[in-house]
Amino acid sequence: MLEKDIKKVLVSQKEIQEICQKLGTQITNDYQGKKPLVIGLLKGCMPFMAELMKYLDLYLEVELMGVQSYHGGTASTGDVKITRDLDIPVKGRDILIAEDIVDTAKTISIITKLLLYRGANSVEVVTLLDKPAGRVVEFTPKYIGKTIPKEFVVGFGLDYDEMYRNLPYVGVLKEEVYTK
Ligand code: IMP
Repeated sequence: MLEKDIKKVLVSQKEIQEICQKLGTQITNDYQGKKPLVIGLLKGCMPFMAELMKYLDLYLEVELMGVQSYHGGTASTGDVKITRDLDIPVKGRDILIAEDIVDTAKTISIITKLLLYRGANSVEVVTLLDKPAGRVVEFTPKYIGKTIPKEFVVGFGLDYDEMYRNLPYVGVLKEEVYTK
């Protein structure tokens, strides 16, 4: 049913799994001897974080933060709202933020600054997708799954108006879905 709204598949289920495996190996190597705190940004991070974690062979903790930036449309409002804050202090921790996509980078740069301000020892970002053509704020995530063109995508956690998060792949939404 959802598939009829998708123009094309951009990242298949198989490719997502391969990306997570590759990122997981890289992160496992980089964080040897550390106990990172992996913070997922809700709600989009959920499937990606769950898949990525399988390949992180580390003593790590997981936390979630609720962040909103689109409020229903297909363009970032730039007004980043924290809808759910962390339950634990981050002072001295090595933090890895798990994000579904970095577009303007406003969300990730604000959250990174906030965590450093709260005393984190280090803050790095792992994102499934990167849309560098959408940048408004200069920011390069340390770990990038796949770089994509400036198109509005849904699936594997990414939504349009809260829908399509449950698609098992990432696809480009037909324009008629959001212009009608
Ligand atoms: P940024 O602050 O513009 O980098 O936006 C990051 C957030 O915007 C992501 O976590 C997503 O929730 C949302 N976002 C950015 N691009 C897309 C997209 O193509 N589809 C769905 N959500 C997106």
